Amino acid sequence: MAKRLNGQALAARYETSLRTSVAQHLTTAGCPPGLAVVRVGDDPASGVYVGRKAQACGRVGIRSRIIHHPATASQQEVLESICRLNADPACDGILVQLPMPAPLNARQLLLAVDPAKDVDGLHPLNLGRLVRGEPGLRPCTPAGVMALLAHGGIALEGIRALVIGRSILVGQPMGIMLQQANVTVTVAHSRTRNLADHCRQAELLVAAAGQPGLVGAHWVRPEAVVVDVGIHRVPPPRQGTRATLRGDVCFAEVEPRASHITPVPGGVGPMTVAMLLWNTVQAWQQRCGVVGGITPVPLPR
Ligand code: GUN
Repeated sequence: MAKRLNGQALAARYETSLRTSVAQHLTTAGCPPGLAVVRVGDDPASGVYVGRKAQACGRVGIRSRIIHHPATASQQEVLESICRLNADPACDGILVQLPMPAPLNARQLLLAVDPAKDVDGLHPLNLGRLVRGEPGLRPCTPAGVMALLAHGGIALEGIRALVIGRSILVGQPMGIMLQQANVTVTVAHSRTRNLADHCRQAELLVAAAGQPGLVGAHWVRPEAVVVDVGIHRVPPPRQGTRATLRGDVCFAEVEPRASHITPVPGGVGPMTVAMLLWNTVQAWQQRCGVVGGITPVPLPR
């Protein structure tokens, strides 16, 4: 039976470390860290994520605000919001919540964010720094996965990994981060042939396909490490019952076969939020000239 990589518990440890760092440097900095989330429209899932991010900010001492535009907002209006936040000294981090409703151009909006405030790590300058292995703000979900693997004691050197999905948000940066940890990486996508065969060869499988239950037990190599980035709301089966969440992996089937597995919920999701907080505190420290960085969360020995 697989060991669970508990993102909820690890995220709580990251929050403790961040809360301490914020309190320690508050006097030197002169103001608390500030995060602004730019949300457009009323996508219910985005509403839940944005609410969780705001609550987590409150727990570590980051001041958060949500700039909520109606779905009818123009590209120019959203761009102007971003430009105001770029110039605002009380704002250290800007997150443009995705997906953006059509016909807005998300790429252009991400490009407008000051790279020093790009706590999502999605600006081309920060993605370029990632590719070059230079310091910079890193995309939160893959950074969260790397932290889960490190704290789970997973040895990555030389292993063979498959990342399913090639988005800018997850798949692409995940592939790069794993390569930089000396993993041999294959990135699969919607045109990949024989996906199941690729999966069965992987010692580490990262599922970020956006397809509920895509990965079943027969796709998983025995003793593989399985990371599930998917999060899908399953409507309640009957009136009076609750909606549930599931990932891209059939958890019940895969758990007995894998060596380690992330649950949904409580796996990658909380770590994405923890990395957003981390990036925001890092951006704040940089802007305020705080030296010493953030106290690291100790790895298991
Ligand atoms: N939508 C779902 N996850 C994310 C995320 O990590 N960042 C942004 N900007 N949008 C998202």
